[in-house]
Amino acid sequence: MSAPLTVVIFGATGDLTFRKLVPALFNLARRGRLPEHAKIVCTARSPHTDESFLEKIAPKVKEIMVAAKEKWDDAEWTAFAKRVKYVAADGTQAGGLAPLSAWFEANEGPDGGQRVYYLSISPEYYPPVVKALGEAGFQKEKGGFKRLVVEKPFGKNLESGKKLNECLHEHFQENQIYRIDHYLGKETVQNILIFRFANTLFEPLWNYQYIDHVQITVAEQVTVKDRLDYYNKSGVLRDMFQNHLLQVMALVAMEGPNKFSADQLRNEKMKVLDSIRIPEPDEIANHVAVGQYAGYLDELDKATGSRASRTPTFAALKLYVDNSRWKNVPFFVRSGKGLKARYSEVMIQFRCPSHLMFPLPKDEVLQCNRMTLVLQPNEAIHLNFQTKVPDVDGVRLKPRDLKFNYREAYDTHALPEAYERLLLDAIQGEASLFIRSDEIERAWAIMDPIIAATQEHPDLVPETYPIGSQGPASAERLLADNGKTWQPIQ
Ligand code: BG6
Repeated sequence: MSAPLTVVIFGATGDLTFRKLVPALFNLARRGRLPEHAKIVCTARSPHTDESFLEKIAPKVKEIMVAAKEKWDDAEWTAFAKRVKYVAADGTQAGGLAPLSAWFEANEGPDGGQRVYYLSISPEYYPPVVKALGEAGFQKEKGGFKRLVVEKPFGKNLESGKKLNECLHEHFQENQIYRIDHYLGKETVQNILIFRFANTLFEPLWNYQYIDHVQITVAEQVTVKDRLDYYNKSGVLRDMFQNHLLQVMALVAMEGPNKFSADQLRNEKMKVLDSIRIPEPDEIANHVAVGQYAGYLDELDKATGSRASRTPTFAALKLYVDNSRWKNVPFFVRSGKGLKARYSEVMIQFRCPSHLMFPLPKDEVLQCNRMTLVLQPNEAIHLNFQTKVPDVDGVRLKPRDLKFNYREAYDTHALPEAYERLLLDAIQGEASLFIRSDEIERAWAIMDPIIAATQEHPDLVPETYPIGSQGPASAERLLADNGKTWQPIQ
């Protein structure tokens, strides 16, 4: 019989618990993926009994799952809820984790157990809580593994990112630390690797000889008026680029590791991050476009009494990967809030044929092959290519799409939520989809000068864009200057 297993959620009274973590664990349990003996211990400062905590979260969990069109079954929930416990503890106070130690002693037995600690707390509490975990001996692998799952933000710049890594490493080994980037838990993001490395068709073309440029878009319709406190200090570059967008870009650009293992995969991603060119200060304005959605400053004024903010809610970057595969191929990467739709994609624009024998009508340019990997919401792959328009007179070309739709192809498999995958991986000790300390630091080294420029450079004052639009005109210009256009957000 294996050692007892406990998933401990720190900061359990926060939103993430009922929005993501408990629904993910509930789904894993009812799909038979969570080990039978696993318990979930929710911990936070507020006093609660198991019952009062469950009464608080159950309606919220239900609401979230029903809204996400997940099946809800009261009997299944009641069975799962028996495994959820609440222990009040305060990791920021000396000896504050004693109630948890007592719970482990009473429930794991003399040999101890396997534990996953999930930090769902505000980042300023990471250092004291990690220190308290260390001082309580919670990292010692006596009786089973001890793993620490950490949510972003991993610092706010290179210096604080390094400090956080040092603090984590003071108490835990790197192989005990699981830094979550929930984009890596998305099926379609993982599929980038399968698409590239489990097929022969595309990989030979996946380089500067055949690819003109790459576009990566993560567009959101939501605005940030409910989280201005956090967001105005962060902005889109810290909130989305340092993590999600650079990770997606690394998967698109990396070499294939010889096997799908955490270290090999992360070594390859790291090589890409290392090869991303950091724009020179006098060049930076030609590589960056930033925007703020209309009304952002009014929301900020209402919330804080100040309208002074250059925090971008939208950014577009032109990045280069300085290696032989990607020589001079621009990666245009954009993300923003308050845009036309929630839509994320990777678009590969292939080069045009070196010579076209078919005459094109005057003023018409050939739309050369495009491959679009739609990450969300209508997960799909489209290959756009030229066809002959049926006609008996002459030859006319028109681009058409070959489509693969995830949900149609796998209509019997619900697409799992990223957190289900990542929590199960952490329980199973599979670290491939988690971020290593060197990746975090390199990602900050890339972003720091860009973030600094958006705060200081006279040409990078964020340009207002209407809510529901494609973003600021400066983002269009970034591509137009290179003779290209964005694929529309749809
Ligand atoms: C989070 C950001 O990491 O990702 C949010 O902090 C953003 O600002 C969210 O809205 C987007 O995630 P998803 O899965 O909805 O694309």
